[in-house]
Formats: sequence, C-alpha cells, structure tokens
Amino acid sequence: MGDKLAVVTGSNKGIGYATVRQLCKRGVGYVYLTARDIKRGEKAIENLKKEGFKPLFYQLDVTDRNSVRTFAEHLKQTHGGLDILINNAALITSNFTETTYEDSVRVIDANYFSILTIQEYMFPILKDNARVINISSDCGHISNLKNTYWINRLTKQDIKLDDINAFVNWFLDSVKNGTLNEEDFQEMPLLAYRISKIALCSLTRVQQKEVGRGISVNSLHPGYVKTDMTKTTGFLTIEEASEAPVYLALDVDQSVKGKYFWFDKTEKEWADPNLKIHSTYAVVEKCLRELNIIQ
Ligand SMILES: NC(=O)c1ccc[n+]([C@@H]2O[C@H](COP(=O)([O-])OP(=O)(O)OC[C@H]3O[C@@H](n4cnc5c(N)ncnc54)[C@H](OP(=O)(O)O)[C@@H]3O)[C@@H](O)[C@H]2O)c1
Repeated sequence: MGDKLAVVTGSNKGIGYATVRQLCKRGVGYVYLTARDIKRGEKAIENLKKEGFKPLFYQLDVTDRNSVRTFAEHLKQTHGGLDILINNAALITSNFTETTYEDSVRVIDANYFSILTIQEYMFPILKDNARVINISSDCGHISNLKNTYWINRLTKQDIKLDDINAFVNWFLDSVKNGTLNEEDFQEMPLLAYRISKIALCSLTRVQQKEVGRGISVNSLHPGYVKTDMTKTTGFLTIEEASEAPVYLALDVDQSVKGKYFWFDKTEKEWADPNLKIHSTYAVVEKCLRELNIIQ
C-alpha cells in the first residue's frame, strides 16, 4: 500500500476531499489532492496536514487540456505512473429545474468531455492492474432515460465512444433547438447533469473494454451527500460517502471490472432500464424546502 499512488480530481472539498483523507488514513503512500484553484487546494492540504496526513498537491482543472497534460507529465516524470485514479470533479446545473443550452454545455464539458481528456493523457501512464473509479450518480443510471432508441444504443454489448458522443450531442442539439421532449426522460430536473452522468457510466463500459493490462474501470453512485453540490442537503456525510470509492480503490477484487456500484458497496445492473433506481427530484425538493433553500 505504501508504494501506491492515487489521484483524486476535484478534491479540495466534498466527497473528493474526504476520499483523499481516507486514502491517506489507509496508508496509501502518495495521495494527490488536486484542485482547479491553487488557494482552495492549498487550504485543503493545510487542513489535512493539521490532522497528521501528508497528501501531495497539484493544480488540476479537468476542463483544461494543458492542465491535464502537465499533470500527467509530472506524474510520469516524478513517479513513473499511477495506480488509482478517482474521477470525482464535477459540476451540477446552475438551476436545478431549468435546462439552458449554455449551462448544459458547461456541465457536460466538466462531467463528461473532461473524462475523455483525462483518458487521453492519464490512461497511458496507468500502471498494470491500476484502478479507475468514475464517480457518477443515481442520475447516471440508464433508468433515468425513457427513450428506447437511446436505451438500446447505450446498453448494446458493442457500444463505442461514437454512440455516447452522439447521445450527448443529440441532447445538446435538442436543448439548442428547443426540441427537448419530456417523454424521453424519467424526470426533467437536473437534466444536463443526468445526461452527463449517463454518458459517464456508458463511457466506463467502453473504457473497460479498451483499457487492457489488468486495469479495472468502475463507476459509482456515492449517495445523496451533504455537500455544496446539493446545497448541503442529503442523507450522508462526506466521510460516509468516501467509503465506497475507497472500497473500489483498495478492497474490491481486481476481477471486478466495468461495473456500476451503489454507495452501500453493492453492484447494481447499470444497463437494466426496469431497475428504476433513477434519481427522484421530489426527494431533493423536499430536503431543499426543509432547509428553507426553496419556498
Ligand atoms: N453530493 C451528492 O449528493 C452527489 C450525488 C451523486 C453524485 N455526486 C458526485 O460526487 C462527486 C463529488 O461531488 P460533491 O458532492 O463532493 O461536490 P462538491 O462539493 O461541489 O465538489 C466538487 C469538486 O469538483 C471540483 N471541480 C469542479 N469543476 C472542476 C474542474 N473543472 N476541474 C477540477 N475540479 C473541479 C470542485 O472544485 P471548486 O471548489 O473549485 O468548485 C470541487 O472540488 C461529483 O462527481 C458528483 O457529481 C455527488
């Protein structure tokens, strides 16, 4: 464990921060806390150092190709590669119930297209038998969709990256052209976020098929967690929510590959639209009302 190197994206706060803390606690030798903002990153490092942990820091904006490339070069030169990559950084829609084009582009860039950049630069330096964990959501389960064409295309065995990009672009074009059809989706709130996370789960399966060298790629719903993303509503603390990513990073058998996990560490069938484990906005709305965040 002491010679392992782990990277957690977007880890200056929230679930990413707690995951870094937990990886340090478990004795992973080199844990990179990364943040797009240097000050926020250094503050987080300072807090962890006060507790006796020794994470390393690197500035990383996942939407900035240069930033991703520079970090990958640093990892290669300084450590020869990495063993654990937790793709945690993400954004949610600015307005939970309205879907605008600009906001959808922003969310999908950060939550989906950034992962393709990370794949381009980081996958070549993953060590044999490395582990990649894509932090998705219950918003990313296929049952968030009702459109049967896209359900079939995204769940087919021989799915390719082009299928996922076509799905994301179909959504963005529909928003741009004002042709979004409510019948295609289980629920309309957080729609761009749902699309980005469905794309991420689909990508997990494609990445797993292509990566080789014993490497595993799994995705995960970390639970409904009290963080800035949820305006501090939720049922889990960040410490509780860090348990499942750390389990996938350190404890699950290496043979577990290309799967979708729940925050309680159980595997769920991602490709089953009848499972009905999609995110229910009424639950979020109720919590937002209880905290007087909405009337
Ligand atoms: N909280 C939940 O209930 C919940 C439920 C399901 C899934 N998730 C997923 O869990 C993960 C963590 O979410 P969270 O709740 O911990 O959210 P959070 O507290 O808002 O933290 C998100 C982190 O991502 C970073 N980030 C955003 N854009 C970035 C970029 N371009 N480059 C680098 N870092 C960036 C943020 O940095 P800044 O501080 O600079 O903004 C922050 O550190 C996300 O993937 C989220 O979708 C959360």
